[in-house]
Amino acid sequence: MSETKLIAVVLAAGQGTRMKSFLPKVLHKVAGRPMINHLLATVDSLNADKAVVVISEGMKESVAKAVAPHAVAVQHEQLGTGDAVKAALPEFENVKGDVLVLYGDTPLIGKGTLEKMLAARRDGADVVVLGFTPDDPKRYGRLILDDKGELKEIVEFKEATEEQKAVRLCNSGILCFDAQKLCGWLKKLKKQQGSGEYYLTETVALARADGCRAVAVEGNEEEMLGVNSREEQAAMEKIIQNRLRKKFLEQGVTMTDPETVYFSFDTVLGKDVTIAPNVIFETGCIVEDNVEIKGFCHFEGTHIHKNAKVGPFARLRPGADVGEECHIGDFVEIKNASIETGAKVNHLSYIGDARIGAKTNIGAGTITCNYDGFFKSKTDIGAGAFIGSDTVIVAPCTIGDGAMTAAGSVITKNVAANAMAVARGKQTALDGWAEKFRVQKKALKEQTK
Ligand code: UD1
Ligand code: CA
Repeated sequence: MSETKLIAVVLAAGQGTRMKSFLPKVLHKVAGRPMINHLLATVDSLNADKAVVVISEGMKESVAKAVAPHAVAVQHEQLGTGDAVKAALPEFENVKGDVLVLYGDTPLIGKGTLEKMLAARRDGADVVVLGFTPDDPKRYGRLILDDKGELKEIVEFKEATEEQKAVRLCNSGILCFDAQKLCGWLKKLKKQQGSGEYYLTETVALARADGCRAVAVEGNEEEMLGVNSREEQAAMEKIIQNRLRKKFLEQGVTMTDPETVYFSFDTVLGKDVTIAPNVIFETGCIVEDNVEIKGFCHFEGTHIHKNAKVGPFARLRPGADVGEECHIGDFVEIKNASIETGAKVNHLSYIGDARIGAKTNIGAGTITCNYDGFFKSKTDIGAGAFIGSDTVIVAPCTIGDGAMTAAGSVITKNVAANAMAVARGKQTALDGWAEKFRVQKKALKEQTK
């Protein structure tokens, strides 16, 4: 036990039955990332020495994998929040410093708020409880203060008197302790009469009985929002989306109608990006400076370089790399393909597993046939090429720099640089044929009347 450490214990063993899901609650995503990972990112930003996630037996595989390299501890029976922290005891019983207890389903908690709690610990409190004053205090535990404004006890709603229920300062469930003292208090927790649970909240009364100091620090209601149902998950999504929108607007992005633009937690946007309504960014997107995105685009795992114009109605899938000054137009799908500087794919195309060289123009309706039902193959088109409208390129295929393809061609062989490839039926014209046809058909119709 030498230097002071910070150990975060994240409770996540609850069943989350109200989610009505096969997936553990904390793995449900908001802004493209499991709730628990949002919280762990905040914990990491505090430079915690260790984070341990308390889970139930059944979640071992899925949650352990999602939170790695953070540790997990298994709580074998869900006997309450006090019992859950006990499951993580081996992680801090020989530690000098702080134990910060968090809830895996309460991921909006801000770094600044947690720092305020740690500061209260530095100021000499042995237990710091994060409280909040919601408009509707519902069934939250109530924080009961003494005359000096220090924390006397936490009473659970179920056990509260009418007078205590009238207190509006509520327990968020987030607490910070002196690690060694917590070990002692955990051992003293009593099984509650009705529920048969061990309440972590009892530690406050135990601390006071030991002559230790407990204080409450207040945070805002929004950060305490927990997810117990799909409805609450949707409410949290809304909050995170609004935060992301605000962040990007402040950072120099123009959005005509921000509420219709959806981001992922990891979206990166440059300056002077403009985004029209109804655009969705899934995970892994980077958009550089001065890119214009028109309406109804959908992006995932995509990098759009400077000064490019994309959309409306473009779908860029993982591995799409759109170079500087490129134009990607409507009803264009791009996957695992790099579109090099200044190239244009303006209408109705599928470009998959391909490279399109600089300044090449891809005609309307061009399709790369990248999959034969067994293997994916690559299409490589050089710089300055001109691919005629409705060209089908059967991969693997290489089309050289400056080459052209005739509209409507099905290209199955490589095309040399600067060559013109024509691969379609030859056109024949039968003079007067159409007129004769019409006369015949009209007569036939008269007869059948
Ligand atoms: C708890 C607090 C209450 C507070 C409220 C805030 C206690 C006794 N009560 O009540 O004062 O106002 O949170 O939301 O602490 N968990 C486990 N193992 C268990 C039980 C719970 O890991 O055996 C985890 C859950 O997954 C959840 C968290 O602990 O993340 C809170 O559990 P929950 O049952 O929601 O606590 P509440 O009864 O709401
Ligand atoms: Ca709860």
